[in-house]
Amino acid sequence: MTDKPFGTTRRDIPAIGQGSWYIERGDRKQAIAALRRGLDLGLNHIDTAEMYGDGQSEAIIGEAITGRREEVFLVSKVLPHNASKSGVRAACERSLRHLKTDRLDCYLLHWRGPHPLPETFAAFEALKSEGKILSWGVSNFDEDDLDEALGVAGPGQIACNQVLYHLRERAIEHAVIPWCERHGVAVTAYSPFGHDGFPASGSAGGKVLAEIAAAQDASPRQVALAFLTRRDSGFAIPKAGTLAHVEDNAGALRLTLTQDELARIEAAFPLGRKPASLPML
Ligand SMILES: NC(=O)c1ccc[n+]([C@@H]2O[C@H](COP(=O)([O-])OP(=O)(O)OC[C@H]3O[C@@H](n4cnc5c(N)ncnc54)[C@H](OP(=O)(O)O)[C@@H]3O)[C@@H](O)[C@H]2O)c1
Repeated sequence: MTDKPFGTTRRDIPAIGQGSWYIERGDRKQAIAALRRGLDLGLNHIDTAEMYGDGQSEAIIGEAITGRREEVFLVSKVLPHNASKSGVRAACERSLRHLKTDRLDCYLLHWRGPHPLPETFAAFEALKSEGKILSWGVSNFDEDDLDEALGVAGPGQIACNQVLYHLRERAIEHAVIPWCERHGVAVTAYSPFGHDGFPASGSAGGKVLAEIAAAQDASPRQVALAFLTRRDSGFAIPKAGTLAHVEDNAGALRLTLTQDELARIEAAFPLGRKPASLPML
């Protein structure tokens, strides 16, 4: 589970990284310590976006990875309204300044917006040819969006699709994951703990997680992360703002669930019907 190629970059990275959502001012020191601890423990896929805290999240990450850039697989995202030809370049250069680096490992369109995909993707390609980004991808794209994106980009160009995926929201399993696997696109699960809705320990699903966790000498969240990254195509970016949470999440890197355990989790958190539109946070 620890050595999966990520899209077209072919750089091996752990299946589980760290997301970095909006961080309050007072949390800055703690956030930096948590990010650095994550790196120590092998959580080296760090996700951010120009939107998060209006650049503050990127600035905090920039501070956290100073002197450690080579250890990190760094991902940021452009806002849809900035995704024009000149807007992508300006946004990327701003992100690089905030992150105090000369390159992103992957740059994503945060969700679909007003600018035509050919324009956005051409801008990504230009940045790639200059070495400012090493790969690019999309976020919150359903299978129709992906078809259109593939038609514009051609095969082998889209590194990943970052989508909402947690135990109680498995909608991407209907069509998005199969599409991505057919076309060699990595699937990054965002909000893998359901943002703030992780199954309660007293609930039926929570009890199944607790039983499997006890059998594996793991925590319920580690079991959830191992389930969500069970396919070769899957990655997860739990946000964790404290050392204790980072240490807990890193424990998932050593966890492999049995077929029986995977089946029990599938049954406890049913897939449900395919929704009319792709869920997003
Ligand atoms: N592409 C998109 O549209 C999109 C949308 C949303 C999110 N994202 C990305 O996905 C990342 C994660 O999403 P998220 O923050 O919405 O949800 P999440 O990762 O599902 O949940 C984060 C919450 O879980 C807590 N937590 C983390 N590890 C824990 C542990 N071991 N034990 C107990 N609690 C724990 C965190 O608390 P503490 O912070 O206090 O540790 C935080 O409150 C974001 O940071 C962002 O990078 C992308």
